Amino acid sequence: MAPSAATAASAPAPGARHDRVLIIDFGSQVTQLIARRVRESGVYCEIHPYNRADAVLAAGFAPKAIIFSGGPASVIDGESPRAPERAFALNVPILAICYGQQTMAVQLGGTVEAGHAREFGRADVEIVKPSPLFEGVWQVGGKYPVWMSHGDRVIELPAGFSVVGTSPNAPFAIAVDEARRFYSVMFHPEVVHTPDGAKLLRNFTHRIAGCKGDWTMAAFKDEAIARIRAQIGQGRVICGLSGGVDSSVAAVLIHEAIGERLQCVFVDHGLMRRNEAEEVVRLFRDHYNIPLIHADESKRFLAALDGVDDPEVKRKIIGKLFIDVFEEKAKEIGGADFLAQGTLYPDVIESVSAIGGPSVTIKSHHNVGGLPERMNMKLVEPLRDLFKDEVRALGRELGLPEAFVGRHPFPGPGLAIRVPGAVTREKLDILRQADAIYLDEIRKAGLYDEIWQAFAVLLPVRTVGVMGDGRTYEFVCALRAVTSTDGMTADFFPFPMEFLARAATRIINDVKGVNRVVYDITSKPPGTIEWE
Ligand code: XMP
Repeated sequence: MAPSAATAASAPAPGARHDRVLIIDFGSQVTQLIARRVRESGVYCEIHPYNRADAVLAAGFAPKAIIFSGGPASVIDGESPRAPERAFALNVPILAICYGQQTMAVQLGGTVEAGHAREFGRADVEIVKPSPLFEGVWQVGGKYPVWMSHGDRVIELPAGFSVVGTSPNAPFAIAVDEARRFYSVMFHPEVVHTPDGAKLLRNFTHRIAGCKGDWTMAAFKDEAIARIRAQIGQGRVICGLSGGVDSSVAAVLIHEAIGERLQCVFVDHGLMRRNEAEEVVRLFRDHYNIPLIHADESKRFLAALDGVDDPEVKRKIIGKLFIDVFEEKAKEIGGADFLAQGTLYPDVIESVSAIGGPSVTIKSHHNVGGLPERMNMKLVEPLRDLFKDEVRALGRELGLPEAFVGRHPFPGPGLAIRVPGAVTREKLDILRQADAIYLDEIRKAGLYDEIWQAFAVLLPVRTVGVMGDGRTYEFVCALRAVTSTDGMTADFFPFPMEFLARAATRIINDVKGVNRVVYDITSKPPGTIEWE
């Protein structure tokens, strides 16, 4: 999603009062991880694509340090991306990673050639000279594991550079110009496969660049509240609550800023998990005293979904009806000037596509997109500079209960996409019971926080079973649990067999309508997390 023009910037930008790092993106798959590592060390940073970085600097971003990401291109190709020349003239430290190292070398007068041996995966670097980059972490003479992924390599360094670390296939694995504070590494310090990588990045931002490390969620909270007040003035804000972490945190933050001028609307589509709607209402209306309309529209949604079995049609029906209901409720309360959205930083980053061109639509995700134009409202998006883990930390800072903050993500279309085929009230009831038992067992086993998302799916298939002396002919329930860092890729969670046996037995014994349980062992790709 491109940054929205509707977002006013009438207060200091996020991070403006903090030391800032600029990450110049050359299209690496893992650029976001650089930002996360930097933020984890208490330093605010922003990612901008290489072809926009010059404009960002010219506009006064004033970074305390710059990091060049890796990328899929080869600097030997004439058209390959380059860093803005302005970056080298700012007299701030630069850390150049992988492709970034190569473009830095070429731009400063060195030479790069196609690699003789591709180095991909684990390698060892040997430290040959001291450097503040690894002070207190790596010693001269030691060999340390790192994660390499590249084809080309630097063969001649620019003037002023010297090698401080080598590897068998990358003689210039770490090359530095201490005088200019330019550091370049051929490996990826941002990935977990470089075990000391986070410490190296911290050395770069703190020891070399002198960043204070004062980017905390407590500081962010106060600044965000001031920004929201400046943006909203005496206006009124309406916020759609889904029960998920992002919209909840956004709502509580905005409420702290403008109090009763925030009106929340919870569109209950009847596709929530067990007790979920009640919990949302209790938390917001009763605990926080936030004005909340609970629009119980389950009948309308179920009627619209009657007999519909195509996943995309289901999604479209739910998305459209959601917007209709939201708009009706907004009108009932006399409208508002702003619409609050829980947009996060990963949706905002204009990452450089390695492949280019539009990608195919796997699923049309449903959120409140499209509403602002239709309702002629300005947007307030107080979380658009945060990663998910930062939103959770902010939620804790705002006093949201841990059970709420640590919740697994839940899709906008709710249980409708966990009942493949036509959705009925009866099937939803069966699914809710099975899902609640499954999650209860996961919590009891202490596994909830290790899992990105876990849920039950009610398959449109009946199978024969035997219970007591009788024949049964009932539905199959599939259990799904995955680990993931961002939902883009995922691995199935390797439960112990005893856990699966326990959960399956309880579901079959307690849930009328299910006589068989299976566990989904598909990763993403090739599967997706949800079944529809
Ligand atoms: P998939 O199934 O595409 O899901 O692998 C990736 C993540 O996105 C969630 N998801 C949605 N979230 N609206 C949402 O807000 C949607 O329409 C939607 N569809 C999938 C899914 O639960 C997982 O976390």
